[in-house]
Amino acid sequence: MQTRIIQGEDRKGIREAAQMLREGKLVAFPTETVYGLGADALNAQAVREIYLAKGRPSDNPLIVHIWDRKQLNALCLYVPEKAQALMDAYWPGPMTLVMPKKEIVPDATTGGLGTVAVRMPDHPVAHALLKEADVPVAAPSANLSGKPSPTDAAAVIEDLQGRVPAIIDGGPCRVGVESTVIDVTGEIPVILRPGGVTREMIERIVGETKVHRAVLNPLESKEQAASPGMKYKHYAPKAKVRVIIGKQAAQRICACYDEAVREGKNPVIYSVEEERAAFGGRAFYPWGVMGEEETIAQHLFASLRHADEEGMDLVLCHGTDTHGMGLAVMNRLLRAAGFDIEAAD
Ligand code: TXA
Ligand code: MG
Repeated sequence: MQTRIIQGEDRKGIREAAQMLREGKLVAFPTETVYGLGADALNAQAVREIYLAKGRPSDNPLIVHIWDRKQLNALCLYVPEKAQALMDAYWPGPMTLVMPKKEIVPDATTGGLGTVAVRMPDHPVAHALLKEADVPVAAPSANLSGKPSPTDAAAVIEDLQGRVPAIIDGGPCRVGVESTVIDVTGEIPVILRPGGVTREMIERIVGETKVHRAVLNPLESKEQAASPGMKYKHYAPKAKVRVIIGKQAAQRICACYDEAVREGKNPVIYSVEEERAAFGGRAFYPWGVMGEEETIAQHLFASLRHADEEGMDLVLCHGTDTHGMGLAVMNRLLRAAGFDIEAAD
């Protein structure tokens, strides 16, 4: 398949991409979180093409993207009161709400669930595309299944060139990790996946909010996942990833690094720039600024891809705390690491 690369400023190109979506074809496009691989959410055949292009298990439900709240009428049975308040505060933005779905939304989009996950992205190119297409667009991250999510067009092209008809290049993504997924069908909202809208931001609007235990813990084998996306190993680079936290983390990371070198391995350390000196001359990759987890989130997936490009076989990550954006960073890191985490105190 020939893949057309469209520039984000190309208005005519965006109109043509919107037409492709209406015809049931796939279009990869930028959002403020990560790049998405979109298809008409109400066209089951088109949605199945997403799974084929990504090589993704087909019982995994997708997020439906809209540009205007009037589109909710076609998708949701009703909008819970707390969902309304959250939309007022954080849409457009990196927040997805799980709500009771209407019959018309196909099982291919929702993984057969009775709910649908909806978000309104905050990105000019996504907005223009969704508005022009005027169909709700199902879009998971535009990576091959199991690879880190793409946060620039080059990563999408690497994974999907030749597998999809069009990719829109909108430059690097501002947030860098996927949206926060919140189940608002019950009395107390539950964060199923942490992201760009933090728990603290949510609680400021709707009060008590729970974090699903699978956000920071491996699922027990028989546990029924509230969000089926939790089941799969995600964001995995080829290199082995280990997360180290605690007061003595820097020393412990150095010890693990030296041991790996003795074993003939090719390790690298990921931490904030301010810690560079603590790692001496060891291979070091700065991924953000101390105390500003947003900057780590922004570079997280590109950093994991970088490890593979450089042929590293062990990535030693200095984990963050779990406040603010730290929760999303640790959720993604723990999955990439297969929950290989050590506390050095
Ligand atoms: O930032 C994002 O959300 C990106 C960009 C492209 O917008 N999209 C994205 O979509 O990450 P996807 O399909 O990769 O993530 C879907 C997540 C999974 O964790 C899935 O389990 C959950 O949302 N999800 C979707 N529908 C659900 C539902 N009805 N109930 C519970 N969880 C749902
Ligand atoms: Mg994904």
